[in-house]
Amino acid sequence: MVAISDYEVLEKLYEGRRSLVCRAQNTTMQQSFILKLMQAEYPSLEELGRYRLEYDIINRLETDGVVQAYELIPHQNGLVRVLEDFGGESLQALLQTQRFALVEFLELAIVLTDILGRIHAANVIHKDINPANILLNPQSRQVKLIDFGNSTVLSRANPSTQMCWKGRYLICLLSRPDG
Ligand SMILES: Nc1ncnc2c1ncn2[C@@H]1O[C@H](COP(=O)(O)OP(=O)(O)O)[C@@H](O)[C@H]1O
Ligand SMILES: [Mg+2]
Repeated sequence: MVAISDYEVLEKLYEGRRSLVCRAQNTTMQQSFILKLMQAEYPSLEELGRYRLEYDIINRLETDGVVQAYELIPHQNGLVRVLEDFGGESLQALLQTQRFALVEFLELAIVLTDILGRIHAANVIHKDINPANILLNPQSRQVKLIDFGNSTVLSRANPSTQMCWKGRYLICLLSRPDG
């Protein structure tokens, strides 16, 4: 298992093509966090830039409907993102073992709509809403969104000025008033 200074890895939660996610205990704070690591052994500058941008986007969203990102730690050739652990599990995982009653489904839909409204009010478009990116704590029923890896920020000054990623490349569309 990976070794990251100040953290004791407790369990692996997810391993995908681009990322590895685990639950870890901060040895100083004695508190549980989620670590999201880059899978690439040699991430490109674009990948590193995108990872930093995603961290900045999460930090501009001061809402409890989004999993907080606390720190970016350099690790080997990449970066590790330290995330909030609120005991959430993805809807994708939960739906493997349980079905939601209609009232639970509607409650979830209402909470999600509210979270998305707050994200949009901060000029961020998530662009990847799916059951793997929605977390629910089955006990507290708290709901939070994760994974802003495909998200777009709209500029306040000029809503047509966008930063977005197409595939693995950052495309800055700096549109001028004259088009
Ligand atoms: N803060 C978290 N708490 C609990 N599980 C998480 C957390 N962040 C990620 N995960 C788990 O890891 C999976 C992948 O995380 P995600 O950030 O969506 O990675 P990717 O960018 O590879 O899609 C999620 O579907 C979820 O199961
Ligand atoms: Mg995801």
